[in-house]
Amino acid sequence: MEQYVIKGGNPLTGEVEIGGAKNAALAIIAAAVMTDDTVRLSNVPDVRDVNVLLGAIEDIGAVVKRPEKHVVEINGSTIHRLSVDYDYIKRIRASYYLLGALLGKYHKAEVALPGGCDIGSRPIDLHIKGFRALGASVDISYGLISAHADRLVANHIYLDKVSVGATINILMAASLAEGKTVIDNCAREPHVVDVANFLNSMGADIRGAGTESIRINGVKHLHGTEYSVIPDMIEAGTFMCAVAATGGDVTIRNVIPKHLEATTAKLAEAGCQVVEYDDAVKVIAKGRLKHTQVATLPYPGFPTDMQPQMTVVLGIAEGTSVVTESIWENRFKYVDELARMGANIQVEGTIAIVNGVDHYTGARVQSPDLRAGAALVIAGLAADGITVVDDIYYIQRGYESFAEKLQGLGAQIEQVSSEHEIQKFKLKVS
Ligand code: UD1
Repeated sequence: MEQYVIKGGNPLTGEVEIGGAKNAALAIIAAAVMTDDTVRLSNVPDVRDVNVLLGAIEDIGAVVKRPEKHVVEINGSTIHRLSVDYDYIKRIRASYYLLGALLGKYHKAEVALPGGCDIGSRPIDLHIKGFRALGASVDISYGLISAHADRLVANHIYLDKVSVGATINILMAASLAEGKTVIDNCAREPHVVDVANFLNSMGADIRGAGTESIRINGVKHLHGTEYSVIPDMIEAGTFMCAVAATGGDVTIRNVIPKHLEATTAKLAEAGCQVVEYDDAVKVIAKGRLKHTQVATLPYPGFPTDMQPQMTVVLGIAEGTSVVTESIWENRFKYVDELARMGANIQVEGTIAIVNGVDHYTGARVQSPDLRAGAALVIAGLAADGITVVDDIYYIQRGYESFAEKLQGLGAQIEQVSSEHEIQKFKLKVS
């Protein structure tokens, strides 16, 4: 088991480069098997979830090459199995994208029920509703979701709740359905737009991505393409919060500042200075930050995947902040760990009352999920003394070279795998 061990107290300074968006890359990799031609993807992050999904498409017969660390070539012409029950696939939520992709291309798919972070109940009823509306029969049994259709036929689909996954999944299947599909009450997240742009570059005819109504004229075939994945707004936001919590001054490069607006707005309200450039943001945090209110909402609202990181920033800001989680009902589990570092936060259902303390103190904490794990690392960077974050497996699902990038900004953090290494680190920094 690996850990991060951190000696806190150093303000982060310098420059950091953000990678491609994990959540966009996952959907795009699944969509890449919808053509028999080769697809070349760049700016693909080298993170565990992406590698698990690449393993899964290889397992059903696709050819996957990685000529460079962030470049992946995929050829789906050799797919010989439409059942995805690869060992690790249950651990990632995005496995469900293979349903939409394979159903669209082969009219048949079977995928193990998705897992992912334990942040609340994670239903897929809206995905199923969409597939059924396109004419597919969908069945759940023995831990697998199976979908098949003689013909996929366009329809008008209203999503009862805004769902990123359902929007993308229906979008993929409808791209190869007969006729014009309209999806209403769509998610507007940048990665929905990225997947639509990617599919259009393969010959799909999708309009309106990024608005609440997407129109898809089904086409017969998709063809090969070269495509670069958008920058990861959550990785960027995580670094922005790390700078805010440590009182630093950092330029965060390879970002689309528009995608970061909600995080930028909240950090500015808390007293940070955020300067936007064409493809970078600079965050400067001086003195003690102040309280504010945050409520997570679908894009362009404040992202739920930034909630734990922002709460950590507010936990040491002056005054009382209120953080409302409206997407995942179980996303405050990390608060107990943060309390071990001195935080004073009361959680009432989906609302956290954050009474800012002067500072965190280093402790041994466990990473309960991907984003909460990153948030605990931020707390460790800001804390007095030594913090050990256990279970960093979760963090590695979505952050590439997290410790190295933080070291580049002056943080004292190391990835270790034994008590002996933790002791060595303590000796080194004392
Ligand atoms: C994606 C992201 C995840 C992020 C979330 C919200 C990936 C791999 N994961 O997850 O990191 O936190 O968007 O931005 O991209 N819902 C239903 N029925 C459904 C589907 C969803 O009720 O069929 C509900 C969920 O319980 C949740 C809300 O809709 O309350 C939003 O979920 P959704 O946008 O679908 O999240 P994911 O796509 O799974």
